[in-house]
Amino acid sequence: MKKILITGAFGLVGTDLRKALQKKYSSKAIVALNHKTSGINYGEIVEHGDVRDKNVLSKIIKKHHVTEIYHLAGLLSVSSEKNPSLAWEVNLGGLKNILDLGVMHKIKIFWPSSIAAFGPSTPKDHTPQHTILEPTTMYGVNKVAGELLCQYYFLKHGLDVRSLRYPGLIGYNAPPGDGTTEYSVHIFYGAIRNKNYSIFLKKDARLPMMYIDDAIEGTINLMNAPSKKITIRTSYNFAAVSFTPEELVKEIIKFVPGFTHDYKPDHRQRIADSWPRSIDDREARKDWGWKPKYNLSKMTKVMYEGLKKKLEQSK
Ligand code: SER
Repeated sequence: MKKILITGAFGLVGTDLRKALQKKYSSKAIVALNHKTSGINYGEIVEHGDVRDKNVLSKIIKKHHVTEIYHLAGLLSVSSEKNPSLAWEVNLGGLKNILDLGVMHKIKIFWPSSIAAFGPSTPKDHTPQHTILEPTTMYGVNKVAGELLCQYYFLKHGLDVRSLRYPGLIGYNAPPGDGTTEYSVHIFYGAIRNKNYSIFLKKDARLPMMYIDDAIEGTINLMNAPSKKITIRTSYNFAAVSFTPEELVKEIIKFVPGFTHDYKPDHRQRIADSWPRSIDDREARKDWGWKPKYNLSKMTKVMYEGLKKKLEQSK
C-alpha cells in the first residue's frame, strides 16, 4: 500500500499537496510531518519532528511503512539570508537524511529545487535547463548542492529521486513563507484587507511565477511518470508565467477598484536581481508532458476569490 510522508506539510506547497494527495489516494495514505507550524488538517496522520533529526525520521518511516516522501521542509530565500547556518543544516542536512533513509528503505522521493539555483551569471530570459549555476544566496547554494546530491544518490544507489525547480508559487490555503517571490501572495492580503500594499521589489522586477494548482499537478505528475521518462535527475526547469509587480497590480485593480500601492525596494530586490526573468521548461514538457493551466489573469481571479472567501470565513 502507498504510504506518503510529507515534510513541510503545513507550508504553502505542503498544505495544497496534502489536499490533492488525500483526494487522489486517501487520508490514511498520508503522514504529515509537522515541525513548528500548524494549519488546516484534512484528516491525515500527523507526526511531529525536525528533518535534522534522522532518528525521528527513521522511526516515523518504519512505523508507517513509508513508500514515498515529498520532502518540502526548508527555509526560503529571505530566512536563509537571515540565518545561513540554520539554512545549511535544514536545507541540506535535512535532504541528506531523507536521501539516506530513502536508500535504506527503497523510498521514492520528491524534493523541490528553485529558480534560486540560478545566479547573476545565468542567462536571464528563457533560462535553459543546462546552464551556469552560480547562485549568490545561501538558499541558492543549498539548492544547487541539493540538486547534485539528488543526482549523486540516483547514480550511486539507484535511488528514485525526482525534482522540480519551482518558480515563485502563489496560493491562499497556507500563509506565505519568508521568501522573495512571496510579495505576490502578500499583495493579495493587503489588497483584500486594506486596499493597500507596499511592494518590497521594483515595479519592473520580472520573475517566473506559478499558481499553486499548476505546481501541485506538475509535482504529482512528475512523481507518477514512468521512471524511464525521467531524463533529468538534478532538477527540471518548471515554468508557467512571468510577470512584474506592476503587471500584477493591473490585474488586482480589476477586482479591487481603488487599490493603492507603492514600491519600496529593499534587500530582497538584490535577491530578485540575481534570478531569471523567465524559464525554458521544454525538457519537462517533452519528458513527462508538463503543461500549465493558469495565466496571470486566471491566477489573479482564483487567488482573489479564494483568499477573500477564506478571510471572510475566518472573521
Ligand atoms: N519563493 C522562493 C523564495 O522567494 C523562491 O524559490 O524564496
